[in-house]
Amino acid sequence: MADDTTVPDPAVILDLMEAFRRSKTMFAAVSLGVFDALADGAGRGPDGTGSLTPGVRALADLAKQLAADPGALEQLLNACVALQLLVKHAGGYANTPAAAAYLCQRSPRRLTGYLGFSNTVMWQLWSHLEDAVREGTHRWAQTYGGDGPIFDQFFRTPDAKREFLWGMHGYGLISSPHVVNAFDLGKYSRLVDLGGATGHLAIAACERYPALEGVVFDLPAACPLAREVVGASRVAERLTVVEGDFFTDPLPPGDLYAVGRILHDWTEAKIRTLLARIYERLPAGGGLLIAEKLLNDDKTGPRWALMQSLNMLTCTEGRERTLGEYEALLVAAGFEQVRGCRTSSPLDAVLAVKAG
Ligand SMILES: C[S@@+](CC[C@H](N)C(=O)[O-])C[C@H]1O[C@@H](n2cnc3c(N)ncnc32)[C@H](O)[C@@H]1O
Repeated sequence: MADDTTVPDPAVILDLMEAFRRSKTMFAAVSLGVFDALADGAGRGPDGTGSLTPGVRALADLAKQLAADPGALEQLLNACVALQLLVKHAGGYANTPAAAAYLCQRSPRRLTGYLGFSNTVMWQLWSHLEDAVREGTHRWAQTYGGDGPIFDQFFRTPDAKREFLWGMHGYGLISSPHVVNAFDLGKYSRLVDLGGATGHLAIAACERYPALEGVVFDLPAACPLAREVVGASRVAERLTVVEGDFFTDPLPPGDLYAVGRILHDWTEAKIRTLLARIYERLPAGGGLLIAEKLLNDDKTGPRWALMQSLNMLTCTEGRERTLGEYEALLVAAGFEQVRGCRTSSPLDAVLAVKAG
């Protein structure tokens, strides 16, 4: 008889076997419109007279609105209660504060773009992770056919593009205020955010530094949404949106460049090209701010960064790096005084300076 005390605890394995089911439960509930329906306020209660608690909706009412099978929907909703996305009341279900903030289309803090992108595009790409590891390349061609520049893939259709950019935006809102606060950037006067997408980092920087002006520089396909978001911001008068390709077009002048979730997209050769272009354009004393999630020095954590690195493997040419790896790239490009700052948000910050 085996001694039970020698049997390793299977909890970690069992948890990971279940983990994708938890993700898919949330993705499906978002996609079906559960959280939006609950955010839309009180519906009819179980007796058809209107729910007693604002924001609480009865199962039958929700099933009708979402055109779902009531029994199956009940299973999904109860699972969402267990996942702390919903609360169950006597009269029905309501969003938790986190679901109301991040899982509803009309919330300014929504992460629904990235969730939708994860549920549709990333889910398919990740289904070929084994092949990505065997071949060391992204999975766009295998999953969707065709090939070409990676951002043509992200922007395959207008909907895919908008979903992706809103996804970046949702993460940006919870990260950029930490990134621009990681170092004192008060001496800089003009920030150029390369690949700035919706402009959340430039907006956060201008909000934090009242004298700063900013440029959001991105591919023409991304700029309409950037103009929309920047135009609606409190600092719109200090920001401009410029279309261009950071590998080939002249970079707008500035004394502080930013690359947020840009370097992790590309091969080392392309990173070197981009860093050389930035270095050449910066005045002496100018800075480069990098926003990425930093790996620990031994590369075994944090888990979030490692999952992001595998994500990069499936959909880009790049990966996540340690501070030491960024420092080596930056020093090779001529930069000095490389400093890293880990934040409590999904992105950390690195600052490097061109010698004065
Ligand atoms: C991963 S997203 C990061 C967006 C943003 N910096 C953020 O953190 O939310 C990469 C961005 O780089 C832009 N981009 C990709 N290739 C580019 C290029 N060659 N020139 C300019 N922008 C580019 C994309 O359009 C996209 O907005």
